[in-house]
Amino acid sequence: MDITVGFYGEVKSRADLLIAASFEGDKLPSKALQTVDSGAFEVARSAFEKKRFSGREGERFASYDGPIRGSNELILIGLGKKEKWTPEKLRKASASVLQHGKCHNAKTVRILAETFSAGSVSIHQAAEIIPETLERANYRFDKYQSKKKDEPKHEVRSFELLFSKKTQKNVLQKSVREACIIAEAVNLTRNLINEPGNVMPPRELASQARKAAREGKFRCQVLGPGEIKRLKMNGIVAVSQGSHEAPQLIVMEYGLQYKKRGTVCLVGKGVTFDTGGISIKPSRDMEKMKYDMSGAATVIGILKAASRLHLPIHLVGIAPCVENMPGGGAQRPGDIIKMYNGKSVEVINTDAEGRLILADALAYAGKFKPKVIIDLATLTGACVVALADKAVGLMGTDQALVDKIRKAGETTGERCWQLPLWDEYFDLIKGHHSDVLNAGSGQGGTITAAMFLKEFVPIKSWAHLDIAGTAWVDSDKPYNARGATGIGLRLLIELFRNWK
Ligand code: BES
Ligand code: MN
Ligand code: ZN
Repeated sequence: MDITVGFYGEVKSRADLLIAASFEGDKLPSKALQTVDSGAFEVARSAFEKKRFSGREGERFASYDGPIRGSNELILIGLGKKEKWTPEKLRKASASVLQHGKCHNAKTVRILAETFSAGSVSIHQAAEIIPETLERANYRFDKYQSKKKDEPKHEVRSFELLFSKKTQKNVLQKSVREACIIAEAVNLTRNLINEPGNVMPPRELASQARKAAREGKFRCQVLGPGEIKRLKMNGIVAVSQGSHEAPQLIVMEYGLQYKKRGTVCLVGKGVTFDTGGISIKPSRDMEKMKYDMSGAATVIGILKAASRLHLPIHLVGIAPCVENMPGGGAQRPGDIIKMYNGKSVEVINTDAEGRLILADALAYAGKFKPKVIIDLATLTGACVVALADKAVGLMGTDQALVDKIRKAGETTGERCWQLPLWDEYFDLIKGHHSDVLNAGSGQGGTITAAMFLKEFVPIKSWAHLDIAGTAWVDSDKPYNARGATGIGLRLLIELFRNWK
């Protein structure tokens, strides 16, 4: 999909569809419409006068006849009250713009982008949100569905976003270009997650990371099973030993030249399929456990986006990748393992595997002397119970960092909700015959999982994002088709764009 920037009064070609927005209470269609297409303006004005359209939220008016000149068709979209307009509403409106384009079988769509800006949504925000959301809303994972030959394809080929001020051309073009880079990285992440476990075992995920690194021009090294064993990363070894698929530790690096500003390590859980192991999961919904590598896929996407955006930050991405299977060599409940950092863990439940592989990866991150470590993981079912698909579970040992992440999430619409990590919670996972248990009794499951990770974090400043509830949606949403969401990518890119 091609997304370009244009300006009022500079419109030359004809579009299949022209889309303009109005707010509730507007007496007339936007002046921009008059400048761009006086014929379309007349049609819109008569719709206002005849009370066919008044800008109420969700309202829509379409016309394909009359004196419209620059396009075959005109659609007006109602956005509701100006004072209630928000970035999140703009995301939903952008998704409906794409839907209208598809429904009306338009190949080229011209949007009066500035008419979608008001109140708390600046023109610059609109110039980022609209293209980013169009790209995300247009994503489908349909590569395994046979294409019917003579079914007409309703795909929009190009969107032109129109603005008023020509002086800001470079700035607006940059916003649109960056938005597309971010959305493409989100869609790459979604592709990696949506691929099933048979297609995306640890080795394939690692080779996808290498491919992303080649395309995005950042570094990628993969440690195989031999190296992982040699380094005594026994958490990773223990989880992978029930599977025929070899474990892989992906290590990516971008922005070495910014090292003096402080390194940020990102760690992502990469369980390419989670059966639970010997503590096997019930069959219901088990097929969804292919998304248990969402953290790893998101870290890969973040490295690619950061590199393509040339963000001034040194990032190291670490993704431990395993398959959690109950094979003959599988670890048993009760096993005691000595982790990479020397602590001993009693494996109470082999389904609490994410924390075992993350523990080694977090400890390994210390090697890079980071200022900050942030991990992303589909870690606990308890997080789905607590927050559903509405918020990321956020925890950490550095309140300033936690606050910055929460704020970034408000901006991008990826809301995060903090849970406490009080010392008392450690009582729930204190070892019987070891330093620590990999699972508590079930109470406070999201917190005890994070308390476990905390034992292996080698520095003071750490934040943990439990994305179990938000990395996947079970039904189509306005700008997210059923399946992977890529949550966390836009969030952390927003954090790093404002990094100091
Ligand atoms: N991958 C799961 C967590 C999960 C559950 C993610 C549902 C997405 C949806 C994780 O490995 C797991 O199984 N956690 C256990 C931990 C428990 C055994 C302590 C859980 O949450 O039940
Ligand atoms: Mn599990
Ligand atoms: Zn898991």
